Amino acid sequence: MSFTVKSPIGVFDSGLGGLTVVRQIRRILPAEEVLYLGDLAHLPYGTKSESEIRRRSEQCARFLLKRGIKALVIACNSASSVAFARLRKTLPVPVLDVITPAVESAVSATRNYRIGVIATYATIESGSYARILQKKCPDAEFFMKPCPLFVPLAEEGWLDGAIAMQAARKYLLPIKKKSIDTLILGCTHYPLLQGVISKVMGRSVSLIDSAIPTALKLKALLAKRKMSYDGVRQARLKICVTDYVRNFTRIGEAFLGETLECVRRVRIS
Ligand code: DGL
Repeated sequence: MSFTVKSPIGVFDSGLGGLTVVRQIRRILPAEEVLYLGDLAHLPYGTKSESEIRRRSEQCARFLLKRGIKALVIACNSASSVAFARLRKTLPVPVLDVITPAVESAVSATRNYRIGVIATYATIESGSYARILQKKCPDAEFFMKPCPLFVPLAEEGWLDGAIAMQAARKYLLPIKKKSIDTLILGCTHYPLLQGVISKVMGRSVSLIDSAIPTALKLKALLAKRKMSYDGVRQARLKICVTDYVRNFTRIGEAFLGETLECVRRVRIS
């Protein structure tokens, strides 16, 4: 299907976490329409095999392409880790991941060149962060920590309180001991737990959320390719999900920061 400057930006994630990226896209590019796909029927991606995450990611990308998107944002670190290179090579539209923008932000924020990354198992095991950090900042030391329970906590809306705090302490205290000054939230669900994460890490540690740098990168990319929509309009946001979860609206609105209106359940395979 062909696209024009008026076509939407396609964004996908395994669940609702990618709405944290959509929130920033809508703030930074208010005239751009967004078509979001949350593959909730297959959440979480972060505990699955590389081949399965790749297969799901390709299906999500195909679904969005058929609906005429002009660019694709992979708003999931696990999918970015294993599927970005191939999607970027094979798709007829520009493709952005969330890892490169997060690394670039971390590299400009760090002062002591000790950077932590928290993410899903799939993201850490893929080596994607280590590879890109090494390339962008060979002098830095990196410390990785998978935090798998943060995803269900965020999807359940347990963002603060004793259980979230206990999980945060268990996961983060070992990485805090490494004297990092910058911590990448390497999963698009984690920004919702920013409160407990920063309580454990302390104020001296900068938390890097990929959503803002990704939206800024998208803006620059669209401008460079002359694909930005420069008119004035009430840009629509359409949300497709492969399944509904309980508390969908409450949780989705917490991620997105606005009312969830146009939501449709779809089959993609
Ligand atoms: N939002 C996904 C990510 O950024 C993680 C959730 C999942 O495990 O599916 O990695």
